[in-house]
Order: sequence, then structure tokens, then C-alpha cells
Amino acid sequence: MAEKAILKALAGERVDPPPVWLMRQAGRYLPEYRATREKAGSFLDLCYNPELAAEVTLQPIRRYAFDAAILFADILLVPQALGADLRFVEGEGPRLSTVTSAAEVARLRPVGEIDATLAPVYETVRILRQELPPETTLIGFAGAPWTVATYMVGGRGTPDQAPAREMIYRDPAGFDALIDRITEATTAYLLAQIEAGAEVVKLFDSWAGALPGPWFERYAIAPVRRIVESLRAAAPGVPVIGFPRGAGGNYARFLDETGVEGLALDTSVDPYWGARLQARTCVQGNLDPLLMVIGGEALTREAKRIVDGFRGGPHIFNLGHGITPQADPDHVHRLLEAIRG
Ligand code: CP3
Repeated sequence: MAEKAILKALAGERVDPPPVWLMRQAGRYLPEYRATREKAGSFLDLCYNPELAAEVTLQPIRRYAFDAAILFADILLVPQALGADLRFVEGEGPRLSTVTSAAEVARLRPVGEIDATLAPVYETVRILRQELPPETTLIGFAGAPWTVATYMVGGRGTPDQAPAREMIYRDPAGFDALIDRITEATTAYLLAQIEAGAEVVKLFDSWAGALPGPWFERYAIAPVRRIVESLRAAAPGVPVIGFPRGAGGNYARFLDETGVEGLALDTSVDPYWGARLQARTCVQGNLDPLLMVIGGEALTREAKRIVDGFRGGPHIFNLGHGITPQADPDHVHRLLEAIRG
């Protein structure tokens, strides 16, 4: 039987109080993160520096004793390893060279060559497995192929990722080739993280809600199912958490058809409905990140509402999306008090 609380929950056990970690728990709301990032130079320098990336991963564990640590890296390292130029513009977000045709997909680096870029990330995982407390679960991650493709096609985040949707309609074969390449690279990347010591992996599909309904199966479900099947064959026993953010009514279908062991719910999902999925999976979520800025009684009340709403089945407490730079580090203590008592 699994010993760690997160692994118990992902194995389908109800754990009381629920284990907890927060998306983006290593980040700009923490002064020690800002100091380490400064020391590293840039955000990408930090991602590729195993000592410092491990350090920022550990910072929120030391402060809050979360039940899980999430590897410090970014979903856009995979496009970079495939040959895209990537930089982060302060206050604006990522900028990538674009891929908008089958010919450009063909010019990407072969999947066998991505480890040349990504090796430092695997080293970060190895360091973390040595340094984390024994009760803390290490979560590796990657972007899901659809979300990664939206950044590769558009070259940046846009309000509704229209450039990728446009490519689906204009050049479906080219878009399928891109999704295939990302799917293969993501499988290899996650397997290498698991070999290095990741105990759980999470697939972030932050833009799942931007997919038109008729395309949800093809781009949000099928590639994830392929990744889950490959991981299950090569690394049995390592649970996968899926996060099809904004999937709405498609959440249930995503769960049934991908076979993920954990389902991360975004802020919009009411526990009244979300709890019905707990008969089939461990759910994770889904407090509004804004409450980490507001704090006070509202934070305590809403956190308890989430705990109570998911009390009937396996649940990992988390936010419905990442904690923001405006969050107050003291409010995290208040949140933990509300959950753990
Ligand atoms: O603590 C953790 O959660 C682990 C590390 C992590 C980061 N990004 C670090 C990061 C994880 C799991 C991610 C995932 C990620 N990256 C997603 C999916 C989750 C989501 O938020 O929807 C996406 C879409 C990205 C791409 C990305 N990275 C964007 C759009 C941005 C800019 C927006 C922003 O918040 O600044 C980033 C930058 C980023 N990734 C930061 C961090 C800590 C902030 C960078 C900084 O220090 O300046």
C-alpha cells in the first residue's frame, strides 16, 4: 500500500484531512523565489540550473510542508527542445518562433534529440528525490499536446488561442503532424522524469476550454490517452493527473476516455457536480486563486466549502489554477489551518 498521502489519494483512498499542494507554489509571491530567480539571471536560466531549480522547488515545502513538490520547470521547454526559439518577456509572458505548416513541423528536431536540451531538468528531479522529506511526493509534469501546440502555432499566449484553431481548419494534416510530434516528445520527456525519480506526473492542458466541442476528442483526449497508455506500459504504477482546464461538460468524457488516475478541476467546477466523478477517480482542486490574495474569513469559509464538498471520496486539495504573484504568503498558512485544523 502507498505510504504517502498523495499516492494514497491517487490510489483511490479517501484521506482525511486531504493532502494539499498548490499549482505554481514555487513562484513570485515568495520573496525567496524572487531572490533565487535574481541570482539565476532569467526565468529560463533558473529552469536549466538544476541546483537553483531544486532550491525553488524546495522553498514552499520548507515554508508550508505541502504534501507534494512540483518540479520547477515550464511546459514550454519541450517546444524549445524541439527547436523553437523561446524567451520570456518581463510582464508579458512567453514569445516563441512559430510553426504553422507541415513543412515547418518536418524541420523540428527529432524526438531522439530533445534530451540534449532537457537533461538539466532530469538532474533537478534527481536532486529533489534526494533532498525532499520522505513524506513528500514529487510530481513531474509537461504541457498536454494541445496547449503546447497553441503556443507553438501562435508564438505566444492569446485570449483564446485563435491561431491554433485557425490551423485546425486551414491545415488539419499539418496540425495533426504537430500534435503527433509533441505527443511523442512529451511521452519521452515524462518517461525520463519518471526514470529520474518523479512519482506522479501531471499534464497541464490550460487551453482545453478553447477547443471547439467537435475537436475536443481529437486534440484534448486522444493525445493524452496515447501518453497515458505509453506511460502505463513503460512505467506501470506511476499515476497521471490530467488538467483539461475549462473543459466544462467534457470533464467526464476526458476522465472516461484518457484513463487518468487523477483529475484536476478548474475553479468553475462546483463540487456538487465534481464530487460525482470521485466514484471513478481522485479529484484535485479547486479553490479560487483570488482567495489567496484576499485571505481572511472568506478564505477559511471557501476552503472549508471545498473540503466538505469533496469529503465523500478521494481528493487532493489544490487551487483551480495557479497561485498569482499578488498572493500573500501568510494566507497560505491560513489556508492550511482551514484544511488541516
Ligand atoms: O510551481 C509550479 O507550479 C512549478 C512550475 C511551473 C511553472 N510553469 C513555472 C513558471 C509549472 C507547472 C508551469 C506550467 C505552465 N507554464 C503552464 C500550465 C499551467 C497554467 O498556469 O495554466 C503554462 C500555460 C505555462 C507557460 C507559461 N510560463 C506562461 C504563460 C508564463 C507567463 C505567465 C506568468 O505567470 O508569468 C510562464 C512563466 C512561469 N512559469 C513563471 C513560473 C514560476 C513565472 C516566471 C517568472 O518568474 O517570471
